[in-house]
Amino acid sequence: MSWNRSSSFGRLSRFWRTLAFRLTAGYALAGLSLVFLASASLYLLLRSELEKSTDLFLADKLHVLRTMLRERPDDIDALREEIELESAARRYEQFYIRLLDEHDTPLLTTPGMADQLDLDQLIHRIQGRPEHTVPMQGRNGQAFRVTSALASVGSAGSRSDTIQIAIDVSQQEELLARFRRRFWAILVVTFVVFPLVGYQVARHGIRPVEEMATTARHISSTNLHERILAEGYPFELESLAGTFNKMLDGLEESFERISRFSADIAHDLRTPVNNIRGEAEVALARARTIDEYRDVLGSCLEEAVRLSDLIGDLLFLARADSPLTNLRRETVNVGELLSGVREYYEASAMDAGVSLTATIPGEPVVAELDRALMQRAVSNLVSNAVAHTPFGGSVVMRAYSEIAAETGKVRIEVSDTGVGIPSHALPRVFDRFFRVDSSRSQASGGTGLGLAIVHSIMLLHGGNVDIASELGRGTRVTLRLPATAAR
Ligand SMILES: Nc1ncnc2c1ncn2[C@@H]1O[C@H](COP(=O)(O)OP(=O)(O)OP(=O)(O)O)[C@@H](O)[C@H]1O
Ligand SMILES: [Mg+2]
Repeated sequence: MSWNRSSSFGRLSRFWRTLAFRLTAGYALAGLSLVFLASASLYLLLRSELEKSTDLFLADKLHVLRTMLRERPDDIDALREEIELESAARRYEQFYIRLLDEHDTPLLTTPGMADQLDLDQLIHRIQGRPEHTVPMQGRNGQAFRVTSALASVGSAGSRSDTIQIAIDVSQQEELLARFRRRFWAILVVTFVVFPLVGYQVARHGIRPVEEMATTARHISSTNLHERILAEGYPFELESLAGTFNKMLDGLEESFERISRFSADIAHDLRTPVNNIRGEAEVALARARTIDEYRDVLGSCLEEAVRLSDLIGDLLFLARADSPLTNLRRETVNVGELLSGVREYYEASAMDAGVSLTATIPGEPVVAELDRALMQRAVSNLVSNAVAHTPFGGSVVMRAYSEIAAETGKVRIEVSDTGVGIPSHALPRVFDRFFRVDSSRSQASGGTGLGLAIVHSIMLLHGGNVDIASELGRGTRVTLRLPATAAR
């Protein structure tokens, strides 16, 4: 029982926090206040206008009676006629007049006035408030507005009588009461309709967000190609959907690259392992001579070396990806570094019939680098260049100092006169396991990790790498690095 209550309370508190509820509440509150204010101000205006027109009528009547009393003080019959005739002629908004002398003795009274109004109360209500109109209730429950005023009798003004006028405003009261009833009815309807309409509008507005959430929930590694169809969405959500789709593009691409990478690793690890296994199986199939065993062991060792190099490269790339990788920077003379690499590759270049030179400017090119890593990067470039340059070609290494705006930069170029790389393959040569012609490179033993490692080493140093190539004419790879480590 208590579990149920707490779960429904949880649902309720979640509902309060929904965007739909907030939008609905805001919309309904604003609508209700607007309707309330508009109706109330119209009501007040109507009431004050009605009162004003009644007061004007009463003031007018007073004025007529005063004039008559002043101009024809003795013609009381004319006065009576005026009063009785007009009041008898009216069907609505009946009014009643009473004329009192100085001693409050009634001189004239509209017939039937005493039936409608409590005359003692009338005196009491308007005493001391001359020329003011005040509300009063009649004997039969009708609403009246009453006023009184002094009027001097005759032009000499020696005597003054009191005029009392009462007007029946029940019609107006009825109108105002109808207005009030209508007003409350409108408020009740607004109270019901606005939240309903507001909720529909809010739901409609946030439906795209929910659709996006549903799509996002369904996307997993197996359907990364799914996208949100943002057509017809409001502009803000369209751009949100666009951003989301772009994020999915990136994810899908990374995911594909990782899948390809894993497949490549598996393939490249399997080849040497299969070779070792095959050789061992063949060797064990029957008795062999010592020399035959030596041959088998030799080629197994070759495969094992290949395998351990590959694993070494993969480990290196994995470590280089980690943000915690530290460089062992030291001041390195780049010219000397290039000479070292040239000496190392001299023999194999000579075997391939390729001339290998290192051109160093007179001024020493010095930079703060991780010597071992830079040697590895340049070696990878030189080994590629030598491997892809036919007999009689040349490979040249160059080092330059560049003075940039704030920091010095070092540029290292390795160019060859080899076979070149087709332009469609150029953007991918830094990808892991990428080989322009995988079948041929496979034969020559390349794994497609060399340039990826160069790229990683450049990133670690805060530098970059560029490649330019022309088929049949040669390739030039340029490394650019800051001469000093960024502080
Ligand atoms: N100087 C070059 N001339 C022509 N093609 C090149 C050159 N350098 C690289 N390539 C092409 O780019 C591909 C990728 O080079 P990368 O050094 O990454 O791999 P690899 O040399 O095949 O293998 P690894 O260096 O890992 O042993 C090579 O397979 C080759 O096709
Ligand atoms: Mg290589």
